[in-house]
Amino acid sequence: MTVYGHLKNYFQARRKMLADSWQMFRENLKYNASIRSSKDPDKLCYMILREAHTLEKGMSLREPRQGFGKQKAEHLMERMEEYAGRYGYNPAVSNALSILEGYLQFSRESGENMDMLSERFRNLLEKFGNPDYPRTDCTIVMEEFKTGSFEDVILGRHSCRYFKKKEVGVEVINKALELASHTPSACNRQAWRTHVFSEEACAKLLEWQGGCRGFEDEPAACILVTADRKAFLHYEMFQPYIDGGMYAMNLINCLQSLSLATIPLSCGFHSDKLAALRGFGIPANEVPIVIIGLGYPEDKVRVAASIRKQISETNTFH
Ligand SMILES: Cc1cc2nc3c(=O)[nH]c(=O)nc-3n(C[C@H](O)[C@H](O)[C@H](O)COP(=O)(O)O)c2cc1C
Repeated sequence: MTVYGHLKNYFQARRKMLADSWQMFRENLKYNASIRSSKDPDKLCYMILREAHTLEKGMSLREPRQGFGKQKAEHLMERMEEYAGRYGYNPAVSNALSILEGYLQFSRESGENMDMLSERFRNLLEKFGNPDYPRTDCTIVMEEFKTGSFEDVILGRHSCRYFKKKEVGVEVINKALELASHTPSACNRQAWRTHVFSEEACAKLLEWQGGCRGFEDEPAACILVTADRKAFLHYEMFQPYIDGGMYAMNLINCLQSLSLATIPLSCGFHSDKLAALRGFGIPANEVPIVIIGLGYPEDKVRVAASIRKQISETNTFH
């Protein structure tokens, strides 16, 4: 190709990437959950589900703090009252109602006075027109860690937030990585990368991540899954996250099948926070996908139930 041809391609790729980035910026600005969330019923509903999850997460720790979550519950009820006032009842908020009810029960059983919050919850239900919502326990006690058939692996996997104090050998981690390497990827580029951290390095990475406050000392090790941006063309901006995400989920299931419990931990942060990953030895061309905390489960382990939506809410037949 001539120098002119190279230059033409270079400027064309730059122009198209800029146009795509601008379009992504505009769409993110419009659809992100941080801005004008109370003006959009879907955004408000997702906020409610996120805040409700912090309560169920609190209940799934090894030793939940006495009286935890009262302020969070109040804040959540405020948002739900706002939702009820603006939009009325929608089954999409039913999980949050179940979690609130479970949280109130959990706190009463641990000796907390929940009279005021319980009264407010009853009023909230009335505001919603006393809907029928699933009454379930917020936590499940896993008496048995199932790892047999594929169905057992899928149904037996839960995010675990405490683990046995037992080292995880390199052999079992390598076995999981080998199994997970069978994940499909666009043009078989296999651009995922993994970084295994244990002991002090693991604790430091989890402290940086910040989403495991209260259980950062629990995982025996963690695996940071990244994807190498160098594998992707200028019109494939999101492909690293797709290939990397598929790989990460596969790795979680492979670990589960090898009797290891896991907790996926978000890497969804602004670029200034992500820049600190360089200090952990992660090259700048790799984008973080997720950190997987892992360890052997206790013989009996309490996990958040994390109720699933009906498939009719999430699927459309075309
Ligand atoms: C990308 C991703 C990031 C997550 N980040 C965190 C986190 O920072 N802290 C945490 O406690 N759980 C985290 N989780 C776990 C979710 O809360 C959990 O998957 C969800 O509630 C469903 O529960 P389950 O995994 O037990 O089925 C994360 C999960 C995913 C997939």
